[in-house]
Amino acid sequence: MVVRRLKSRKLGFILALLFVISSIVPLKFITYSSAEQASSKKKYIEYNFEGKSVSPLVKYPSSVTLKITNSARAEGLYSVLVSGRKNVSDGVVVDITKLLDFSREYEISFYAMQATKKLQRISATLEILDSSGKNQLIVAEKVLLPNIWTKVSGKIQAYNYKKAKKINLIVNMPTSKSDSFYIDLLVIKDLENAYVLKQENFENKNTGGFLPEDKNCKIALTKDKAYSSTYSLKVPAILKRARMERFLFPIKGLLQKGRTYDFSVLVYQNSSKPVSFLAGIKINDGKSTKEIVLTKQSVTPKKWAELFATLDLDTKFSAKDVSFFVKPAVAIPYYIDLYSISDENWGQPIPDYNLPSLCEKYKNYFKIGVAVPYRALTNPVDVEVIKRHFNSITPENEMKPESLQPYEGSFDFNIADEYIDFCKKNNISLRGHTLVWHQQTPSWFFTNPETGEKLTNSEKDRKILLDRLKKHIQTVVGRYKGKVYAWDVVNEAIDENQPDGYREATGTISLGPRVHWKAFIWAHEADPKAKLFYNDYSTGNPYKREFIYKLIKNLKAKGVPIHGVGLQCHISLDWPDVSEIEETIKLFSKIPGLEIHFTAIDISIAKNMIEGDDAYTRYLLIGQAKKLKAIFDVLKKYKNVVTGVTFWGLKDDYSWLKGDLPLLFDKDYQPKFAFWSLIDPSVVPPKLKN
Ligand code: GLA
Repeated sequence: MVVRRLKSRKLGFILALLFVISSIVPLKFITYSSAEQASSKKKYIEYNFEGKSVSPLVKYPSSVTLKITNSARAEGLYSVLVSGRKNVSDGVVVDITKLLDFSREYEISFYAMQATKKLQRISATLEILDSSGKNQLIVAEKVLLPNIWTKVSGKIQAYNYKKAKKINLIVNMPTSKSDSFYIDLLVIKDLENAYVLKQENFENKNTGGFLPEDKNCKIALTKDKAYSSTYSLKVPAILKRARMERFLFPIKGLLQKGRTYDFSVLVYQNSSKPVSFLAGIKINDGKSTKEIVLTKQSVTPKKWAELFATLDLDTKFSAKDVSFFVKPAVAIPYYIDLYSISDENWGQPIPDYNLPSLCEKYKNYFKIGVAVPYRALTNPVDVEVIKRHFNSITPENEMKPESLQPYEGSFDFNIADEYIDFCKKNNISLRGHTLVWHQQTPSWFFTNPETGEKLTNSEKDRKILLDRLKKHIQTVVGRYKGKVYAWDVVNEAIDENQPDGYREATGTISLGPRVHWKAFIWAHEADPKAKLFYNDYSTGNPYKREFIYKLIKNLKAKGVPIHGVGLQCHISLDWPDVSEIEETIKLFSKIPGLEIHFTAIDISIAKNMIEGDDAYTRYLLIGQAKKLKAIFDVLKKYKNVVTGVTFWGLKDDYSWLKGDLPLLFDKDYQPKFAFWSLIDPSVVPPKLKN
């Protein structure tokens, strides 16, 4: 089913919206400004190019060609084709100075599309001219997949530019010097109206992109009736065969998978009795056309009535064309006015379900994994993103000793079992993390049950710890036999500052080699097919990696079943150098048959960030992307030994590094340059400051 659910008017949601907007506009509808009225209202300004004029877009520079076209459009019938470009900066410019109220904040949005065979990046820049000169600031940028209309939007804090003499909005496609692109539905709206995608009241004296389904039926603009202001649209004549005539409004380019849209249109009829009106969508899937009625309502004669419909799009929705329609149940003339489309998910983060899949891209190299907290498995949006991009997951905390055996002998497998079920259901591999660790392990593990003292290195105490570890490992690994493809058996047991290189778990008992070889043996006995890893951080440190190398080499030499080394890779922009990562891989690949997993990648930029300086943050994010790409180039080179690469978190706000921006997706699920650097680095901007 392409359309998930059809709903009637959602009272709660509407009330919430009304609450937000009631302070600035009359109830029911927002204040509407056509471009001509812009200077008086400035709450909502829309250019949909249905009047067949490219205004207010101006060539930038004049060698560019701007043309109204009906060969592509996000909505309605027309868009603007920007062609004849000779430079990456070539595009269009709009002087928005007079459109803004300099006490307010706006959302500026437009739809863009490019039809080349590659990915391209589109960019919207504000050029602010004041007494100090000219300043440029990127307000929005987006990667455009071929042939998909994409909403590009950003915020303008007009109150910051009170002294500006002129503000231009420049739109260009910096990834290409000569390729053309299309623009449609440019909207500048007060932030409080951000949920409105488009509005049409026909005051611009054109049919606003509506068309009759039957070309012989002439719909026309009229002053006979109007819900607001002067004009409405009329189906003046009933065709001979008295068909119920429909108004169609093409909307395909506006629709984004996984989102919910509200449609509202005012209808008027002056027959002698009430007539039912229907509204819905007509979907053309390339082979056939089907009609879905979203609402049906009786309309009393001589009174404007609102038809309201909600469309909820599945994340797998696809169609060649989609139109909104309105029609009466019997053949009568009628009028429509004040048509609007709003985004119900406005303000809620929604992923882009058209993105290329990351794990698909790397399927011939290694698994692409992600560490996720349990709440991600219960969030359908997170689940969609996980399923699309990752073929391995690591429970972020849920398989650590404190989660699985919080009290001695008392195991809790409820949540871990859910991970197992999730992975099975979605055909995703599960990395088990972790069995032996000095952290997130309950203190009872390291406490003498009789004395209540911390365990020491005495033979007696060592035996207590080993017995406990044996039971833990055998129980956990045994339970998930055949279901966990790799285990981090021992985590972070090397401390290069100790003379022997081994960490002391509680400052008293060493997690030395005896613990290790036993742990691997017990795990192997419990699940002989699982790959067993030693996992650690800061392996870019030559001194530390040497300790780890020796540890693994010695264990292997003794015949201990250790199959891989896990390199965490919690790194930053400044450290380590990518060459150190390559050195680490080279070193471990000297051990025959040893697999290498990158188990916890994140690239911190927080230390370099300057508060409030968005342009600098963008520069750092570009740096992050370049570093990640350089790392992946190395990993790909060593694909015979590197078999898994896991990111430590799904999106920035889930990261353990609070306030940092270390991952592939931002808090709103939007792919960052880091993501694009792994899909197509050509869309990542050059690392120039600004
Ligand atoms: C390391 C540990 C993980 C987790 C992360 C960051 O990778 O192995 O369990 O704690 O650090 O929190």
